[in-house]
Amino acid sequence: MNQEELYEIYLQILQEAMQADESAAAADRDGKFQKAASLYQRASELYGKAAAALMDLIETCDAQDQPDFEKSVDRLISVSKELKQLAAETARKQGKSDQKTTIAEGEDGSVFVPEGVRPQVTFEDVAGLYEAKQLVMDEIINPLLHRELYERFHIENNGGLLLFGPPGSGKTMLARAIANKADMAFFSVRCSDIVGKYFGEAEKHVRALFEAARASKNAVVFLDEAEALACRRGGNSTVMNRLVPELLSQMDGFEKFDGHLIVIFATNRPYDIDPAFLRPGRLPNHCYIPLPDLKVRRQFLQQMLDERPCRGPIDIELLAKETDRFSCADLANLIKRACQLPVNRSIRKKMAGEQAPEEYLTWEDLDKTRKTLHPSVEEAEIRRLEKWMKQVGMQMPAAG
Ligand SMILES: Nc1ncnc2c1ncn2[C@@H]1O[C@H](COP(=O)(O)OP(=O)(O)O)[C@@H](O)[C@H]1O
Ligand SMILES: [Mg+2]
Repeated sequence: MNQEELYEIYLQILQEAMQADESAAAADRDGKFQKAASLYQRASELYGKAAAALMDLIETCDAQDQPDFEKSVDRLISVSKELKQLAAETARKQGKSDQKTTIAEGEDGSVFVPEGVRPQVTFEDVAGLYEAKQLVMDEIINPLLHRELYERFHIENNGGLLLFGPPGSGKTMLARAIANKADMAFFSVRCSDIVGKYFGEAEKHVRALFEAARASKNAVVFLDEAEALACRRGGNSTVMNRLVPELLSQMDGFEKFDGHLIVIFATNRPYDIDPAFLRPGRLPNHCYIPLPDLKVRRQFLQQMLDERPCRGPIDIELLAKETDRFSCADLANLIKRACQLPVNRSIRKKMAGEQAPEEYLTWEDLDKTRKTLHPSVEEAEIRRLEKWMKQVGMQMPAAG
């Protein structure tokens, strides 16, 4: 297709999206919440499609025009997400809370744990991500466990790692599993929380974090939502201009220290990160954490269903096929919501005075719930990540 045709397609989808959004708002005002919720959902999907159509268009444009278009892709994605949220909220107004679409939050709190503890989660708990786990073993864990081998072959490593990938794919979980595997304490902080602090406070916070980590000798320092902290220099606030160098100097202070620190950054938006961070010697290890492919979805669903009381035939293959683009967090949410159905049946039976109110999870529960949920990651987000990988010269890893 040529550029003009692609542009036409994009405009048409965008127009449909705006119309659906307007109709949704009108239904919402009229108190027709169910109708409004499904229109918001439709608008959200259309904005997602518009973002994907714009990505198609971008690929045909001159390189110098691309950043502006990419900003538009970002805006479309965020509108799509807001509308999805709105669809869920509106459905709740109708009392249909089981239509809510949420992604499971990472378990780590907003501030770092002063006395970091070794996390319980293991590599085996993390579904899929085989290439990522191998890279982590080669670059992070084995250099600690088998230092002499790395010295013999003159392989230099520093403990820096950047995990990037769509939300809910297991970045936080893998970081915790690394601390478990290396038998280290885990110190975690969300960069967006540091950035929100007052002038001067942010740097203090970073210093305190690294001091606490060093005091425990062997530690993983996990900096989540790295795009908030490490955004490109120039044109941004003083906090940024002071914070970024502070962080770099804390990381450079590594070698003079006799314990072991592993610093892991995680982000959904690696393209926003200050390139200074990505230079060799700082964060040389970039590791893509992709969405689960069909095989991994099948395994993950199987494992979750094995742990729950089910009855009757369950077509895991079909469920895995119909959850394309679902993250592991989305899948976990699906199972949780589906299980709510037999729980509610049991409660109703119990309240009615029945003796053995035992209920089981069935295929119908799973199928019905699946139809109310949508993947929380937009296709255009995946394509932006893949585009960035190409730009920084990374090979596209196998999915999973
Ligand atoms: N690869 C995975 N294997 C098993 N569970 C996962 C995986 N990815 C995500 N989850 C589930 O989703 C939740 C959120 O994942 P998280 O690691 O916080 O995602 P991210 O940090 O990439 O946004 C986890 O607590 C876990 O329950
Ligand atoms: Mg996370």
